Amino acid sequence: MDGNKTIKVGLLGCGIVGTGLVNLFAQNKSSGIKLETIAVRDPKKPRNIDSIGDFEFTTDVTQVVGNKSIDIVVELMGGYDYAYQCIMQAIKNGKHVVTANKAVISEYGPEIFEEAKKYNVNVGFEGAVAGGIPIINPLLEQLSLGDIKSITGILNGTTNFILTRMSERIDYGSALRIAQEKGFAEADPSFDVKGLDAAQKIAILASLAFGRWIKPNEVYCEGITEITPIDVDYAKELGYVIKLLTTARKTKDGEIDIRVHPALISNTHRLARVNEELNAIYIQGSPFDEYFNVGKGAGQGPTAFSVYYDIVKIAEMIRSGIVRTINVNSTDVKIADQNKVSTEGYLRLYLRHVPGSLHSVVGVLANHGWNVKDSIQRGGPKYEIIVDGVKCLPDIITHEPLPFAVIKNTIPDLINLKTEKGNPIHGAPFYMRIER
Ligand SMILES: NC(=O)c1ccc[n+]([C@@H]2O[C@H](COP(=O)([O-])OP(=O)(O)OC[C@H]3O[C@@H](n4cnc5c(N)ncnc54)[C@H](OP(=O)(O)O)[C@@H]3O)[C@@H](O)[C@H]2O)c1
Repeated sequence: MDGNKTIKVGLLGCGIVGTGLVNLFAQNKSSGIKLETIAVRDPKKPRNIDSIGDFEFTTDVTQVVGNKSIDIVVELMGGYDYAYQCIMQAIKNGKHVVTANKAVISEYGPEIFEEAKKYNVNVGFEGAVAGGIPIINPLLEQLSLGDIKSITGILNGTTNFILTRMSERIDYGSALRIAQEKGFAEADPSFDVKGLDAAQKIAILASLAFGRWIKPNEVYCEGITEITPIDVDYAKELGYVIKLLTTARKTKDGEIDIRVHPALISNTHRLARVNEELNAIYIQGSPFDEYFNVGKGAGQGPTAFSVYYDIVKIAEMIRSGIVRTINVNSTDVKIADQNKVSTEGYLRLYLRHVPGSLHSVVGVLANHGWNVKDSIQRGGPKYEIIVDGVKCLPDIITHEPLPFAVIKNTIPDLINLKTEKGNPIHGAPFYMRIER
């Protein structure tokens, strides 16, 4: 143990986040932490890097993961298997590791933490969830010492930006195009808009909170692509806003109810005012009661800053001989069956504007045990559409809590509903949960 030891860092990847990190090193020259070697695909590529002296570029990752003088390997290449192999090799070589790679951590967290324990090294991944919001270290070091009851968050900036534009009555396709023009959405946005990115992030947070590793494919997931301006209008009228909500909570049976889906939340909810590309995390538990944090979920500065924090922290741990082990091995915690999870909800149907339409729909809902709270139907050019010469109006129905299995059984009966005038419903019904 040497309290004055200069800590040497090797970097894998120098793209958006890596460049931001290199520039943070340039601004903090007296930190006793030195960047030695950077592995990239193309060392000749121009990079917007401030001059910080004598590090080297290489295309050979073994110059980083196998470099005897390097203490901390920082993985910022992205991708799955190759990044995972590099991280594992670095650990086997006795290197501490920092990464912002949510894909690798969510898929291979337990393997990485076990290997780190075996080789007595630290792993930092603050940048992997919610970019600039401190959440991994607070969970590992403080919050998980308490009894965490729920984590609710807005963990995807792309969809939050799109939903913010939609709250201004812009349709989904136009809102997505604006997000792409501003660099908040990828050319292929499916990973974000289908909720898969948020699923990886809530899987990581819930695993740390509840001590049982949860893989992204265990997270129930719905995206935002079916939401229309009509939904946004009615949500507003009912006192709600629409958000892509990520939730993980302990049920009364001790199971973990974990999901990502668009939801109506009260306009007084803490998360309702989190707009644009921002992320937010709201944790409830005892004895701390509430933890709420909001900030940039991605981007060069915020993410590089979180990575830099992990490097500084691990440098301190190396100097004082501390190894932080991460235990997520609990096997007796089950994931809740979504069919059994009850919530309130919102149903939007386009009804043919002929006598008896609403009556027949209400009959189906009653058969399935729905206790209807609100039912709104409006006419006028803002709402109505004409299908095969027949006027159709959107009908909005909200209900008291019901298990999701009931909703899943009801929808096909609505789609197949037959009256003597044919099916009173045009198109597919659209359903969203309401969260308190
Ligand atoms: N961007 C964000 O806002 C953000 C936010 C949170 C988390 N993250 C995570 O941070 C990580 C990095 O993201 P990024 O946006 O910075 O990625 P990026 O801009 O695509 O940069 C990737 C870097 O990795 C290098 N690279 C790729 N494959 C390589 C290989 N086989 N060998 C050596 N170098 C290789 C590339 O080299 P060349 O430059 O030579 O092509 C490039 O420098 C990802 O895991 C991402 O999920 C990013």
